[in-house]
Amino acid sequence: MLKTIRWAAYALIFAVAVGWAALWLRPDFYNLAANGVRQSTSGIGVPGSVSVGGPFTLVDTTGTTVTEQSFRGKWMLVYFGYTFCPDVCPTELQTIATALDALGPSADKVAPIFITVDPERDTVPALAEYVKLFDTRLVGLTGSEAQITAATRAYRVYYAKANAKDSSSYLMDHSSFIYLMGPDGTFRALFRQGIAPEELAAALRTRIAGS
Ligand code: NI
Repeated sequence: MLKTIRWAAYALIFAVAVGWAALWLRPDFYNLAANGVRQSTSGIGVPGSVSVGGPFTLVDTTGTTVTEQSFRGKWMLVYFGYTFCPDVCPTELQTIATALDALGPSADKVAPIFITVDPERDTVPALAEYVKLFDTRLVGLTGSEAQITAATRAYRVYYAKANAKDSSSYLMDHSSFIYLMGPDGTFRALFRQGIAPEELAAALRTRIAGS
């Protein structure tokens, strides 16, 4: 009986994973040829029918509550991850920091934002310590479980606890994309994990110049 339950649980986990993979790999969601431009200069194409981004209420590293309205007038460059991430998050945040440096003064028009998917460990002080390792301009946002859930849903972020050995030692699985939102808050571009800093900077330069 226990075996049956265990296999049923595995089957369910597998079904959920396949469902997520299908959603994220949908050709219309990640159509690199969309708009006839390469991913390196314009980001991954997302059809107009798919909404990305939206309202959020979170807490910054000074403990102040902020919303998406707090960043109006700036290009929001949004990345979701967590401070205990062993590899991907640090790499992507370094890419963002390097791209901002490459932008020069135009970087003032960009609000780089790191939103945690692990609010349990990424408290305000923990996040404050972490973001400044990459760039003093990087805004770290955390919040309650409910606030984080709402923000991740708006941005279609997948995340889940993995490898939980005990309550304090665990990894988080999470989707890894860099989102670009316009000064009006609308979704403008999605960049795949592993984009080179200079490619990201070039894409930002083009977008900012066109605004
Ligand atoms: Ni990560």
